Amino acid sequence: MTDTSVLVTGGAGYIGSHTCVELLNAGYRVTVIDNLSNSSKRSLERVEQITGKAVEFIEADILDAELLVGLMKKNAFGGVIHFAGLKAVGESAQHPLKYYDNNVTGSLRLLQAMQETGHKRLIFSSSATVYGLPKALPLTEDHQTNPINPYGRTKLVVEDMLRDLMASDPAWSVAILRYFNPVGAHKSGLIGEDPNDTPNNLMPYVSQVAVGRREKLTVHGDDFETPDGTGVRDYIHVVDLARGHVRALEALFKRTGCLTLNLGTGRGYSVMEMREAFEKASGRDVPFVVGPRRAGDVATSYADCTRSAEELNWRAQHTIEEMCADTWRWQSMNKTGFD
Ligand code: NAD
Ligand code: UFG
Repeated sequence: MTDTSVLVTGGAGYIGSHTCVELLNAGYRVTVIDNLSNSSKRSLERVEQITGKAVEFIEADILDAELLVGLMKKNAFGGVIHFAGLKAVGESAQHPLKYYDNNVTGSLRLLQAMQETGHKRLIFSSSATVYGLPKALPLTEDHQTNPINPYGRTKLVVEDMLRDLMASDPAWSVAILRYFNPVGAHKSGLIGEDPNDTPNNLMPYVSQVAVGRREKLTVHGDDFETPDGTGVRDYIHVVDLARGHVRALEALFKRTGCLTLNLGTGRGYSVMEMREAFEKASGRDVPFVVGPRRAGDVATSYADCTRSAEELNWRAQHTIEEMCADTWRWQSMNKTGFD
C-alpha cells in the first residue's frame, strides 16, 4: 500500500472519476482540480461512497497559473494525472480557439507550474484521434500522427510539447496514453458517463435511447468497407482504462523518459454489433435509422496494445457484454445522469 498523493486534473469527469476510484483503491491519496465545465461535483461524492475514502476537491481552472503554483508549492504530489480538457470533435471545429486555449494553454500552465515546483511525473490523456486516417491496422504507437480535426491537433501539440520538454530535461517522467473508445461504467452503477447535451458518442446515445430519453439511434452510414457496413471501433471499458493509469503511474515511479502507449482492447466492434449487444444486456429495444456518414469518420480503427502489455503488464479485461451491462446499470439507475 502506498501513501503517495496524486493530483488529478479533470478528476470529476468520466474517465477521471473512474481513475480516482482505482487510485484510492490502490492506496493513493487523491486531490482533484476541476472547473466542473463538463461534470458534476456529485461524481466525486460517489467516488467517496464507492471507496469509503475522501477526495480533496478544488473547484478551479487549470488556466489559473497562480492557483496551480500555490497548490504545488503547498503539496508534494508523487504524480500528476492530466485529464482536464474539452473533447467534442464537432465543437472543436466550430470553436477552435476555445479548444487551443483550454487544452493547449491549460496544459502549458500545468507544465509550467510543475516545472517551477519540481514536479516531474505526469500522465497525459491523449487520444487515438492523433493518428488521423489509419494507413495500417492495427494502429501501433509508431503509426504516423496526422489528426484531422482541431481537437486532435490540440492533443498532438501537447504531446509534442511534452517530448520537447523531456528532451530538454531527462529528469521528467511522462506517460502519454492514447485512448481508443472508452465506454461502460463502474460496476456499482454510481458513476458513469453523463454528457451535458445531446451525446456525440455512440454508447451514451444508445443508452439514452434504451432508457427512453431519445427516440432512436441514427447510424452514421452503413456503406463503409466493414463486414456489416457500419463503423468499427476499439471500445474499452472505462475501468480497464482507469487501471491502465494506475499501472502507468507505477511504471513512472521506476523510470524517467517518455512512454507513449495505446490503451484499447485490440479488437473492433461495429455500430450494429454494439447496438445488438446493448439490446441483449438491457433487455430494451434500441430502434435505429441509417443516416449519412458523419464528416471525418473512418471505417475502422483499433489498437495494437502490445507495447502497453509489455511496458505496464496491463491488458483490458472486460468483455463487450460487461461494457454494455455496466453502461445500462449506470443509465437505468441514473436516468438523467448526476442531476
Ligand atoms: P470529461 O469531459 O468527462 O472530463 C474532463 C474533465 O475536465 C471535466 O470534468 C471538465 O469539467 C474538466 N475540465 C475541462 N477543462 C478544464 C479546465 N480548464 N480546468 C479544470 N477542469 C477542466 O471527459 P473524459 O471523457 O473523462 O476525458 C478525459 C480526458 O481524456 C480528456 O482530456 C479527453 O480529451 C481525453 N480523451 C477522452 C476520450 C473519450 O472518448 N472519452 C478519448 C480519448 C481521449
Ligand atoms: N456513431 C453512430 N451514431 C451515433 C454516434 C456514433 O453511428 O449517434 C458511430 C460513428 O459513426 C462511429 C462509431 O459510432 O462509427 C463510434 O463513434 P463515437 O463518436 O462514439 O467515437 P469516435 O470513434 O468517432 O470518436 C471517439 C471520441 C474521440 C476520440 C476517438 C478515439 O469521440 O474524441 O473516439 O479515441 F478521439
